[in-house]
Amino acid sequence: MNTQDQLKKAVGEKAASLVKDGMKVGIGFGSTVYWFVRALGERVKQEGLEIEGIPSSIMTGEWAKEFGVPLTDFETTKELDITIDGSDEVDPDFQLIKGGGAALFREKIIAQAAKKLIIIVDESKMVDHLGAFALPVEILPFAWERTAYEIEKLGCTPVLRLKDGETLITDNGNYIVDCPFEKIKDPAGLDRKLQSIVGVVETGLFIDMADTVIIGGSEGISIKE
Ligand code: 5RP
Repeated sequence: MNTQDQLKKAVGEKAASLVKDGMKVGIGFGSTVYWFVRALGERVKQEGLEIEGIPSSIMTGEWAKEFGVPLTDFETTKELDITIDGSDEVDPDFQLIKGGGAALFREKIIAQAAKKLIIIVDESKMVDHLGAFALPVEILPFAWERTAYEIEKLGCTPVLRLKDGETLITDNGNYIVDCPFEKIKDPAGLDRKLQSIVGVVETGLFIDMADTVIIGGSEGISIKE
């Protein structure tokens, strides 16, 4: 395992240690969250921890089943105590770019549903300004070229995301365009503009949502609130 993976594992395990008996837990997606799900399943088995999770992707649900994390859904549960998720970028105000794993819509649903959103990252994700990571935006397949054209007017060249040479289809049946804005000066303003475009389902900008960031670095783990 390389150093970055070790840091991801460490923050995933740290986050699992913060989950308490009886909690309803939103579970994000990504290679960092994978370690969280694994460690949480271990606590369920070893300590008899009684929790229920809601996954933010089909793959997250599969991991939960594999590692023995009990699941529920929004039909029975409307509020979550805590959501744990990764991120592609985190700025000093805890504004985020997410969606590298194409799960941003469901991730934003579980982020909004939670009393507390905890983000787990290795230190490479901490940035001074959002935007070096191309912003993922989920859009409807219908007239996607037209939607991408409107996004382009905001100052980037959107790229349709592919998987194995084919157009990537999200868990919601939509497309993702990756939008290289390079340096996003006003994340909240950009989010509002993107959200106003017909055809945009959701953006990877998570504005004023994160409460806590757990960062894995060469000096160890730090928790910022
Ligand atoms: C998925 C996400 C992930 O949380 C983000 O891409 C970080 O992933 P990783 O932990 O693999 O670096 O937003 O849509």
